Amino acid sequence: MIERQALATKPTLTGERLRLVPLTASHADAMYASTTDPETRRLTGTHRTFTPAQITAWCASRAEQTDRLDLAVEDLTSGAFLGELALTEVDPDNESAALRISLIPRARGRGAGPEAIRLLLDYAFDQVRLHRVWLEVFAFNDRARRAYERCGFQVEGRLRHAFLWAGERHDTLVMAALNEPPAGRG
Ligand SMILES: CC(C)(COP(=O)(O)OP(=O)(O)OC[C@H]1O[C@@H](n2cnc3c(N)ncnc32)[C@H](O)[C@@H]1OP(=O)(O)O)[C@@H](O)C(=O)NCCC(=O)NCCS
Repeated sequence: MIERQALATKPTLTGERLRLVPLTASHADAMYASTTDPETRRLTGTHRTFTPAQITAWCASRAEQTDRLDLAVEDLTSGAFLGELALTEVDPDNESAALRISLIPRARGRGAGPEAIRLLLDYAFDQVRLHRVWLEVFAFNDRARRAYERCGFQVEGRLRHAFLWAGERHDTLVMAALNEPPAGRG
């Protein structure tokens, strides 16, 4: 059985170089900038455009969501916004949920992603008591795939031509991490 209170009560999770904090309206400006960055839009498959007011309303409403967890990634020393990540599509009957992450461009490529993913995954398994955390990643996004693999996700399948961007079709990979010892251990 999952621990629903661990979704309703938003945690602060502290790592070695960053911390995950509840996403609030204070993050809205940085979030909005991220939604307008072309490469971020391509990597996250964001077809929609948003107004600043929509992003502010969305950020401000995260605290009252009891069936998902939306967290901001902040630099531990400076408190600077590095990105956001979320646990969504929580399925209590099957003890599973989806994970998504998007770091801002200047925060990429130096290990912040795996650290943030591990912090949220540990919380998902140990506190929310989920068994399965899954995600979708575009087949061309080698950095994201590698980051997920480093955190224990395995590729489970390929959704052919699931993503259409700028007139080109791309495959999407389904990946998941399970809350159990790796095969062959213990
Ligand atoms: C995906 C994301 C979370 C990864 O976090 P990150 O901090 O940038 O990742 P890292 O710097 O730790 O790199 C992860 C791994 O990919 C490798 N890598 C980096 N660029 C790569 C590339 N172009 N091709 C292949 N591997 C690459 C790194 O060497 C590292 O592997 P290693 O630990 O074995 O050396 C982050 O880049 C991000 O938010 N990107 C934008 C949005 C996005 O793609 N989100 C995911 C959507 S599913």
